[in-house]
Amino acid sequence: MMILAPSILAADFKELGKEIQTIEENGAQYLHFDVMDGMFVPSISFGVPVLESIRPATKLVCDAHLMVSEPIRYVEVFAKAGADLITVHLEACENIDATIEKIRECGCKVGVSICPDTPVISVKSLLTKVDMILIMSVHPGFGGQAFIPASLDKIRELKTMIDVEGLHVDIQVDGGIYAHNVEEVIQAGANIIVAGSAIFKGDVAENTKEMLGILKRYE
Ligand code: DX5
Ligand code: ZN
Repeated sequence: MMILAPSILAADFKELGKEIQTIEENGAQYLHFDVMDGMFVPSISFGVPVLESIRPATKLVCDAHLMVSEPIRYVEVFAKAGADLITVHLEACENIDATIEKIRECGCKVGVSICPDTPVISVKSLLTKVDMILIMSVHPGFGGQAFIPASLDKIRELKTMIDVEGLHVDIQVDGGIYAHNVEEVIQAGANIIVAGSAIFKGDVAENTKEMLGILKRYE
C-alpha cells in the first residue's frame, strides 16, 4: 500500500489544526511529526505538548520521527501522547535493541532511521524486529533541503535485502521529495513517502491530491 506522510514541520503553525484537517480530508494516511532536540540535529522543533493537542483532532496515523539523542528516554511519553509509530535513529541509540523493545512495550509500531552517510547494511540485522526502515534522503534537521540522489541506491539495496529475506518491512523515505521526483523514489522501492514543503508550501489540498494521485498509480 502506498502511503503519504505529510511532515507538519513545514506547516503554517498558526493554522496547524486546519492544515491537518486539509491533508486528512484529501486522503493522506500518516501525519509525520518531526521531533528535533538541538543535539542529535542542530534544530529544535516541537514535542509532546503539540502531539497531545493534535492527537484528539485527527485520525491520521501519528508517525513520530525522533531526531533525538538517546530516544529511549522519550519513547513512553510520546507513546502516551498519541504516537502510533515511533522512529528512532540508529546513530542516536546506545542500544538499538533495547530501544526497539521499549517502543514495542509501549504498544507502538517500530521504525528505525538511517542518515545519508550510514550504510544500509547497518540495519540488516534489525529487519526482523521492525515494522519500517526510514531512509533519510536529506541530512536530518531541516525541511526544504534538496533530495540526495545517492539515496535511490540505498532504497534499492534495502528493498532487495527485504525481498531476499521474504520480509514485510515498510520503506519510508524522507526529505526533498516533490511531485517531480517522487516516482523514482517509489520505483526504487519506497512505499511510505514523507513530504513537508511539497505539501504545505502553496495550496495544501491541491498538493495533497497531486501527490496522492501519483502514489495511487503504484498501488
Ligand atoms: C528533516 C525531516 C523531514 C523534513 C521533510 O530532518 O525529517 O521530515 O521535514 O521536509 P521536506 O519535505 O520539505 O524536505
Ligand atoms: Zn522526518
